[in-house]
Amino acid sequence: MSSRELNATANALAAEGKGILAADESLPTIKKRFDAIGVESTEDSRRAYRELLFTTECAEDFISGVILFDETIRQRSQTGKPMAEILSDKGILPGIKVDKGAKDLAKFPGEKVTEGLDGLRDRLQEYRKLGARFAKWRGVITIGTGIPTRWCVESNAHALARYAALCQEAGLVPIVEPEVLMDGDHTIERCEEVTSRALMTVFSLLHEHRVEIEGMLLKPNMVVSGKDCTSQAGPEEVALATLRCFAEVLPPALPGVMFLSGGQSPIEATMNLNAMNVRRDHPWELSFSYGRALQEPVLKAWGGDPGNVSRAQAAFLHRAKCNGAARYGTYSQQMESEAP
Ligand code: 13P
Repeated sequence: MSSRELNATANALAAEGKGILAADESLPTIKKRFDAIGVESTEDSRRAYRELLFTTECAEDFISGVILFDETIRQRSQTGKPMAEILSDKGILPGIKVDKGAKDLAKFPGEKVTEGLDGLRDRLQEYRKLGARFAKWRGVITIGTGIPTRWCVESNAHALARYAALCQEAGLVPIVEPEVLMDGDHTIERCEEVTSRALMTVFSLLHEHRVEIEGMLLKPNMVVSGKDCTSQAGPEEVALATLRCFAEVLPPALPGVMFLSGGQSPIEATMNLNAMNVRRDHPWELSFSYGRALQEPVLKAWGGDPGNVSRAQAAFLHRAKCNGAARYGTYSQQMESEAP
């Protein structure tokens, strides 16, 4: 695939008013989400839930792409249609999570490195045939006493760069996700310092690996206070710190920034994105690629009961619409009164 086509796909994913749904929970993670609503995680229950999301009418007005898990891209709907085709028929681009998870980094207690590079070239080709147009790889950086170490940041950046180059070779747009976790009692200043260091390392290695910036998307954390920090920054402060950090590090050629929600509540994630888009002084599209922040209310409304499907779809459409408005900086708390 040419650079022009990769760039066109990246731009389509970062289209105005739209963002990505991350529905690529691994088997242990989706089990955790289902446990919370008292639903057993089976191949059938996972299919039923994801089919509910993907068949939501008008979701395509606010959702440009969906990240799938390996099991889902191979699954068919109840009517026998491949899940990826349900999406592409609606004009939503199917994507695929290709990393094999963050594992303990040997000899670096409390730190992780993401695995999955072995055999990746072949897997990417297969996913392309199954309909994927883009991919995702998540690296995890933890803040704590004496961490992250330089070695952890570099190992993760190195893996992200190798993955991104392989994706572009296979004609898939890489979503590069270096996530600095919210866990801990650190301040927003410390999150800014670590996020800035992580992004600087990632872009330096992407450059060395000859990754074309115009044909990729970044999925970063927002710069926020640690979950257990006694003073929690509000949307204005989050927007200022995040944009200040990006201005120093991100190349203007990057088509889009697709934030993860990372444990923010659904409304917080929408408010923070909105606060950034109210400011129009940045060269990149600032969008969302939320998992929990889009799905929490949907899971609650569904509860595993087929009788609740339309209620759950209404909850999904509502969150998607609110985040769609946050893409223009026109979201207001008043929109929440329209929640189903
Ligand atoms: P959250 O929005 O729940 O953080 O998930 C996004 C994601 O895809 C993490 O890799």
